[in-house]
Amino acid sequence: MLDDAVRSFAVASLPPPPARVLEVGAGEGELALVLACAGYEVLAIDPASRSEHVRPVALHALREPPGSFDAAVAVVSLHHVEPLRDSCRRLAEVLRDGATLVLDEIDVARFDERAAGWWLEQRGLRRDEPHWHDPHRHDPRWHAPGTPSEIVAWMRHHLHDLGTIQGALVEWFELGPPVHGPYLYRWELSPELRGAEEALIAAGRVPAVGVRLVGTRRPGRA
Ligand SMILES: C[S@@+](CC[C@H](N)C(=O)[O-])C[C@H]1O[C@@H](n2cnc3c(N)ncnc32)[C@H](O)[C@@H]1O
Repeated sequence: MLDDAVRSFAVASLPPPPARVLEVGAGEGELALVLACAGYEVLAIDPASRSEHVRPVALHALREPPGSFDAAVAVVSLHHVEPLRDSCRRLAEVLRDGATLVLDEIDVARFDERAAGWWLEQRGLRRDEPHWHDPHRHDPRWHAPGTPSEIVAWMRHHLHDLGTIQGALVEWFELGPPVHGPYLYRWELSPELRGAEEALIAAGRVPAVGVRLVGTRRPGRA
């Protein structure tokens, strides 16, 4: 289910329609559909997607003309992308100079045992619900974790952290400041838990592991 806050952030950060937008790691294409309905020309890509509206290609292998997109959006996908640097170069190649880059991410370096513990507790409370399933169930490296420290170790081992992502982008993109906020409620939990997560963040009891930033494609060839 597409999160309301993600949709608002993407729409508010993109240039106004009509504009050609690339969505990287689009999943089943829910955000892409919203953007298309708002008047954007959208190409959604994701190598693991089963949607006929999403092109099943990895970012580094994308074949599109240079400078042919006005913007790109990636929602919790760049931390998975391999090879990261070549993929970011390809992203830069297909975006025009001055194009907007909209990123929603997990700050893996901030994801600690307090965050994992609260998440596991909420998951346990919801285990009997009909839509319950494992996050990363499509990822063959994932196995259902038992403890907070196992989750933290898995995240740090398998996912790119924010600094690594920024480092891979900075050659081609002027990046705005990262803005942190809630994320755990979106990770196979429920929008109803957003307020509870925000309250814990405000009280200093869990870190704000969600992060958003907006960048601009620097002039010049990739
Ligand atoms: C956590 S999911 C997020 C999906 C969707 N953006 C969402 O918010 O529901 C990360 C997605 O990134 C995709 N992905 C992984 N490697 C990729 C790559 N090299 N290029 C494009 N997408 C990739 C995965 O297949 C997966 O669907």
